[in-house]
Amino acid sequence: MDLQSSTQDPKKTEDNSPIYVGREEDIKKSQRMTAIVHDREVVIFYHKGEYHAMDIRCYHSGGPLHLGEIEDFDGRACIVCPWHKYKITLSTGEGLYQAINPKDPSAERKWCSKGIKQRIHTVTVKNGRIYVTLSKTSEFKCDSDFYATGQFKVIQRPSTLKKDPDFKNT
Ligand code: FES
Repeated sequence: MDLQSSTQDPKKTEDNSPIYVGREEDIKKSQRMTAIVHDREVVIFYHKGEYHAMDIRCYHSGGPLHLGEIEDFDGRACIVCPWHKYKITLSTGEGLYQAINPKDPSAERKWCSKGIKQRIHTVTVKNGRIYVTLSKTSEFKCDSDFYATGQFKVIQRPSTLKKDPDFKNT
């Protein structure tokens, strides 16, 4: 595989097998970790007892989401991008924004969704070991794909994380 020119080829079969990324006891201490899963950079958060994984680069301009703060907006846990403060829900990857009704300037601002902007991935925990399974890029396009592939990919290095032969989907 040529990592220097690794763009996603739609004709290429996607590998969506789970990849071991670390130990549960470690992420419970650090609350977050980063990993390369099948040559895609992801960040994994442990927040209020739940795991969330998403593309590491923000859909807006490629900001480093692993350096952002987690805050609740409208009752939804979001990662706040450190670059321009975009808010992305941890559970769905939706971009949130506040809107007012221009015909009623006195009205309160309401939180609204732009839809799914950041690709999220599946986290599985087996025997204290954390695995990430990439969502299928062939099923839908997501804005964050732009910064996860091709010339915008920041980290150009081979994956050091290998498939775990002990992992079984049960
Ligand atoms: Fe994340 Fe702009 S790059 S908000």
